[in-house]
Amino acid sequence: MALDTWTNLSYANVATTSPAAHRIASEWSDALARGGAAEFDGEAEKNVMIPLRRAAARMLSCGIEDVCVGSSATELLCSLAWAISPPSDSNIVSTRASFPSTVYPWRRVAEESGAEIRLAGHDEDFYTDPGEILALIDQDTSVVSLSHVEYSNGQRYDLSRFAEAAHSVGAMLIVDATQSMGMLPIDARATGADALVSSGYKWLRGTFGAAVGYISPSVRGDLVPGLLGFRSHSDLWDLRADRLELPDDASRFEYTTIHFGAALGLAAAVEELVERGMDEVWRHDLSLADIVVEGASSLGLGVVSPLSDAERSAIVSLRLPEGTSSEEIARRLRDEYRILVTSRAGLLRVSPHIDNDAEDVEMLFEALAELLGQT
Ligand SMILES: Cc1ncc(COP(=O)(O)O)c(C=O)c1O
Repeated sequence: MALDTWTNLSYANVATTSPAAHRIASEWSDALARGGAAEFDGEAEKNVMIPLRRAAARMLSCGIEDVCVGSSATELLCSLAWAISPPSDSNIVSTRASFPSTVYPWRRVAEESGAEIRLAGHDEDFYTDPGEILALIDQDTSVVSLSHVEYSNGQRYDLSRFAEAAHSVGAMLIVDATQSMGMLPIDARATGADALVSSGYKWLRGTFGAAVGYISPSVRGDLVPGLLGFRSHSDLWDLRADRLELPDDASRFEYTTIHFGAALGLAAAVEELVERGMDEVWRHDLSLADIVVEGASSLGLGVVSPLSDAERSAIVSLRLPEGTSSEEIARRLRDEYRILVTSRAGLLRVSPHIDNDAEDVEMLFEALAELLGQT
């Protein structure tokens, strides 16, 4: 194996950037380094989000008008939280197992208004009973904020079930799809979500600095983004500080300069996945997840991720033998075998994607057998 290659089985952490995305982002940065805006004029800046919006719309089976671009999933969630500003006598429902960015933006707006945050608990395997989330939703719920796939154990939720429950009490469903978009097919409108965001540097295989958001046509006219800036005005270069007209479409959530090269690169990475077919990507990723489960069983390791068809994903988290540090094993896999997995909450999280094949997963278990003294 060449010394500069890594076996990245950690797409839930950071993708090995798609070569096309890397080339496009680098070329764009090189142009700035040559001459500032000489090769990136006002017209180019105005239209620069279009390729990513178009690609994400294809992936989410929605219209380009439903999609916006941001720098990160967290930023889009913050802007949405302030746009929705849940009222003081309402509650916001989420889970304790959530990645903090799925909850913190709501915590911040709730601190301001006095709204209540309700988090469903989890068991020792980080499993959240969907029924427990549903039980927290009542007439006073204004927002249900869910990670489509939980980052720690890969548990996947049936979004339409939560959309129905949220809508039945007049609440919105806001989805963090950072751990699902690019891994599995998502029809944004069919999920019933009012908004859905995804970071670009995990399953979508972009680089740092770009993310996408879907804002449902049924709610976006009423949403004034929490983050506003010169790009928020519908006619970008008609720069006047004394008025602001937001675009009607989801691009109202685009408000300023970002690493446009990252967005252009991410567009190419998303197109690659769409061309391959999201059904095929999902089938491939699950087949690798199956091999992870088999490998774990051959070494007698516990799998804490849900394995039913309805709740599983390509994130498989393993419990190591008592007294074995997941951090140390992850570090040794990286340093001694050039294999990347993640240590999360005492678990070893394996998350393969389309750049991996069965051999990569087999290599991981050969290395693990050696590290755990089972050869
Ligand atoms: C569910 C989830 N949301 C958001 C993020 C972070 O996204 P970003 O860095 O784009 O804010 C992560 C990162 O691990 C995540 O797992």
